[in-house]
Amino acid sequence: MVSEKKYYITTPIYYVNDKPHTGHAYTTIACDVIARFKTLDGFKVKFLTGTDEHGQKVAKAADEKNISPQKFTDDVSKSFLQLTETLAITNDDFIRTTEDRHIKACQFFWNKIANSKAPDGEPWIVLDKYKGWYSFRDEAYHTEDELILNKNGEKCAPNGNNVEWVEEESYFFRLSAAETSLLNYYEAHPDFIGPNSRKNEIISFVKSGLKDISISRTSFKWGVPVPNNSKHVMYVWIDALANYLTGANYPDIDNSTFKTIWPADLHIIGKDIIRFHCVYWPAFLMAADLPLPKRIFAHGWWTIEGQKMSKSLGNAIDPNSLIDEFGLDQLRYFLLREVTFGNDGDFSKQALIHRSNSELANDFGNLVQRVLSMIYKNCNSKIPNFQDLTKDDLEIIDNSKSLADNLRPLIDKQSFNESLETVLIVVRSANSYIDKQAPWELKKNSPERMNTVLYTLSKVIYNLGIIMQPFTPIAADKILTQLNVPDNARSFSFINSDSHIAPGLLINKPVPVFRKFE
Ligand code: MSP
Repeated sequence: MVSEKKYYITTPIYYVNDKPHTGHAYTTIACDVIARFKTLDGFKVKFLTGTDEHGQKVAKAADEKNISPQKFTDDVSKSFLQLTETLAITNDDFIRTTEDRHIKACQFFWNKIANSKAPDGEPWIVLDKYKGWYSFRDEAYHTEDELILNKNGEKCAPNGNNVEWVEEESYFFRLSAAETSLLNYYEAHPDFIGPNSRKNEIISFVKSGLKDISISRTSFKWGVPVPNNSKHVMYVWIDALANYLTGANYPDIDNSTFKTIWPADLHIIGKDIIRFHCVYWPAFLMAADLPLPKRIFAHGWWTIEGQKMSKSLGNAIDPNSLIDEFGLDQLRYFLLREVTFGNDGDFSKQALIHRSNSELANDFGNLVQRVLSMIYKNCNSKIPNFQDLTKDDLEIIDNSKSLADNLRPLIDKQSFNESLETVLIVVRSANSYIDKQAPWELKKNSPERMNTVLYTLSKVIYNLGIIMQPFTPIAADKILTQLNVPDNARSFSFINSDSHIAPGLLINKPVPVFRKFE
């Protein structure tokens, strides 16, 4: 069935001044789970990720290596592209902000804003002079009262990064003129920002008064030229945020592709970039007379065994090595299960091993292995016949059948942890059911009842295999393949479909789906 429902989801685009680490992998994996979930649920999904390649930091890094910024970004961008493959990400587009399509989109976007008027009747963009404390690391200006003192008593940004006094001619976006419209918008769209704690933080920030922001630079060249004034390049955040429009075919706004894809349904970001996404971005879009994304969700940050995940500390965890050691499904599962999405978390191999052993290998993996092995050995490798399903049989089938309906609202709130808990409740109740029914004992005295119990469990496992595809795609594929489920019968609309799991269906030789770690 071809559905008309669409879903456009994006990751932030990653800076190319660092190699990808597990923090980046986290955001991308979270988006991938939702993209897969929506695809299985009948949506036509547009899933965009990519790299953020302009700005002074990148130009400096390239300079230090004695190569052109383009060559530098070509190299680092590849490692992010490679990561999407290692993580089995289902993005259908990968954007680089140095691409022509994006430069065209940015310049059109700029002109649109520059040619329209703010609610006070004045232009949104004005040329002026910027004086202020600039953090090259954050590519952001800070006001005097935001600064703190570092260990050496020097002024620095609130996050401890160095700042320098900078004066330059600059275009300004009159963010202050968007204050009322933004507050009205947040109020009228209570689901626009998640989680709620972050929404409240943004509302108080806007209520405390917005300052106009500098949106162009003359001190370096590695950026998108401002239309009609090539002395200026665009401030990286206008350039970066506009990637979400480029991915939707902007500026071809009259084209049906743009109209169907835009507005985005969900931008997932980290808590560090929430102001850019929840204040600047909606203001820019309002100024350009474009609809706003439906929702922006800011997740928390991971530390590693108590320490900040950063290359400079030398403890950056390379997702590739974690995958080699533990497996992709295990990493995906751990990151989404261990902490409530939105909160911070601390990563440790110990915790990953514990989660994986107890929930994936013991609870879920054993259930599948026990049931499929019994069918394979005792029922000629065929789904057995059933007779008179009891209240217990029907209850466990019904619980597994409701999983898609129960997870849908949780996934729409980005509640991954709760979603997985909901699946585990069914897994655990299936394990209790199997212990209570003891099919290995029924084998001697009541083979027909054994068949009914194994039939019931095969339906539950089929439904679990289907619902786990977004979270642990490799294991779910193994389960569904052991059950001989064709690729075109794995979407949520097939949950509990009798045509696929029916008596007589041959299954394949069961193999364990999750490893157990020492
Ligand atoms: N280029 C900007 C985003 C522009 S989007 C229009 C940027 N890039 S980034 O590479 O620095 O960060 C990208 C994402 O990775 C952010 O959402 C950030 O929160 C996330 N993470 C980076 N380190 C992280 C952790 N240690 N933990 C969790 N997420 C982290 O910002």
